[in-house]
Amino acid sequence: MKNRKTMKAAVIDRYGPPEIQSIRRVAVPEPSAGEVRLEVHVATVGRTDTATLRGHPFFARLMTGLLKPKMQTLGMDFAGVVDAVGDGVSSFKVGDRVFGISPENFGAHAEYLCIPADGAIAHIPDILPFDQAVVGEGAWYASGTTDMLSKGDRCLIYGASGAIGTAAVQLAKARGAFVVAVVGTRHLELAKNLGADHIVNYETEDFTKIGERFDLVFDAVGKTSWRACRPLLNKDGVFSATDLGPGWSNIVLSTWFGITGSRRVRIPFPENAPGFIRHLAELMARGEYRGVFDRYYALEDIVDAFRYVETEQKTGIVVILPD
Ligand SMILES: NC(=O)c1ccc[n+]([C@@H]2O[C@H](COP(=O)([O-])OP(=O)(O)OC[C@H]3O[C@@H](n4cnc5c(N)ncnc54)[C@H](OP(=O)(O)O)[C@@H]3O)[C@@H](O)[C@H]2O)c1
Repeated sequence: MKNRKTMKAAVIDRYGPPEIQSIRRVAVPEPSAGEVRLEVHVATVGRTDTATLRGHPFFARLMTGLLKPKMQTLGMDFAGVVDAVGDGVSSFKVGDRVFGISPENFGAHAEYLCIPADGAIAHIPDILPFDQAVVGEGAWYASGTTDMLSKGDRCLIYGASGAIGTAAVQLAKARGAFVVAVVGTRHLELAKNLGADHIVNYETEDFTKIGERFDLVFDAVGKTSWRACRPLLNKDGVFSATDLGPGWSNIVLSTWFGITGSRRVRIPFPENAPGFIRHLAELMARGEYRGVFDRYYALEDIVDAFRYVETEQKTGIVVILPD
């Protein structure tokens, strides 16, 4: 039986490397009006967590806290069971199985989490266990790019084996696009299973010389550039990236193309997280979307989980089990 006054949480007091996190007992949060509290069964460590822990890039501290992080506990993805509801909540009740993301306050690296009932939270489809429902973060970031696609568009996804890349392949297919996935040797089978129409092995072939043109090229791992990918784009084709690019080139170019109005280079930040999580629940219920999971860590081993994610070698999602 759990002690309901205090809970285990991975706590941070400053920016720094994974080792600065410690597992402590802190007060269980009480849901305010309009919030639900859930018992977290599964969480993840993603690149947002690792970047936020280090306070990198520095300008991101405008949102997360200039000198020290505003949030005491990281963790954006969650899946669990509602165990209390605040005043005025009618969309969820105690016992509901829910999943979602907490992009502003984080907090899922703990045994309990409070989140607005009208936030990015939805019921887990009945067919899914908890550990297959922590899929929100990478998918939400990917959606900022895949939402540009229409049926029949041609897109190339570079780095289709990470959390964002594996999501992007599936979301692009769900929108009816033709998808070429670029991955390394160990992920060829994965890309095929995710539904990519054609797969290029970046270790044995120069993907920029495949002789095809695309409406959209998406650098989903921050390992290529507009300059390298430009020959792949058709006349109005868009290069979209998850990262700043070499020498912050993606920031410079997206600003420049924004001024000229062509918007050919973009670093899209996804919007409407609540709507997206509900859409994701529908896709998962229809079997049109699934998470790709790598290693599982206990909350006590969170430092190791962060270290692994920082290798930039994970396949899809790294899972944390708080209890
Ligand atoms: N700043 C933030 O808050 C933030 C938040 C989220 C994401 N992001 C950015 O979004 C990007 C993707 O994040 P993610 O979590 O999806 O990444 P991830 O899961 O860490 O990506 C790792 C995958 O990339 C593959 N990879 C490594 N080097 C590659 C290369 N040269 N070419 C192609 N694939 C390569 C790896 O497999 P192989 O090595 O076997 O190919 C591995 O499967 C990153 O650039 C990250 O910085 C930033």
